Amino acid sequence: MKLINGKGFLVIFLVIQCVAVLAVAKDFDFFYFVQQWPASSCDSRGGCCYPKTGKPKEDFGIHGLWPNYNNGTYPSKCDPTNSFDYSKVSDLESVLQKEWPTLACPSGDGLKFWRHEWEKHGTCAESVFDEHGYFEAGLSLKKKANLLGALEHAGITPDDGKFHKMEEIRDAITKGVGYAPYIECNVDSSGNYQLYQVFQCVDASATDFIECPVFPRGGACGNDVEFPSFSSASSRDEL
Ligand SMILES: *[C@@H]1O[C@H](CO)[C@@H](O)[C@H](O)[C@H]1NC(C)=O
Repeated sequence: MKLINGKGFLVIFLVIQCVAVLAVAKDFDFFYFVQQWPASSCDSRGGCCYPKTGKPKEDFGIHGLWPNYNNGTYPSKCDPTNSFDYSKVSDLESVLQKEWPTLACPSGDGLKFWRHEWEKHGTCAESVFDEHGYFEAGLSLKKKANLLGALEHAGITPDDGKFHKMEEIRDAITKGVGYAPYIECNVDSSGNYQLYQVFQCVDASATDFIECPVFPRGGACGNDVEFPSFSSASSRDEL
């Protein structure tokens, strides 16, 4: 007996396709790739602590790669069964320590930070990568977006007490990486705005930078923004 004829099969096939497309489309729409300027993390109310492996180099460090929706909201902690497993990224540890350093207090080895990023954000993009792939994607995006190089090219170098127009900072990064970033500031101990985090938008396959579908809110900068030096920064344990 023939249960399904050719036409019936086609209909079932199309229904499955539709459900699959809907399921994928609901995952998330794009990523924010977020990098932070370590001097600004340290020169803020909360202060910072250098990782156990030592003071990071004077460069932007990765904060995370965050799935986001076009409507501005984001999914979070999507798969409690897929918790962070250090053994899956142990081969990346030394490069993560350099490019994705923790600045949280008390001083850590980075595992807590990476666990948080994977479990809160990474698990919401399991259709794109596994845990190892998540960290690899972040590292490869950082290589593609040399923020410090873009700023230095425009004459914006880390320097305490020197202020830059917000537009100049944004234009320098836009020129350097091709798309306008969102720039988040925090306020230093003297009450000045300083460049804190840079958000770039990345396509849903985590490979290419794109024009941001929507910008985050909060952490706005004033017109005059400091790009503080990290060589003169201190961690909480040094104060
Ligand atoms: C934003 O979009 C997502 C995915 O389509 C949806 O699940 C969520 O409810 C939306 N949130 C708001 C506030 O519109």
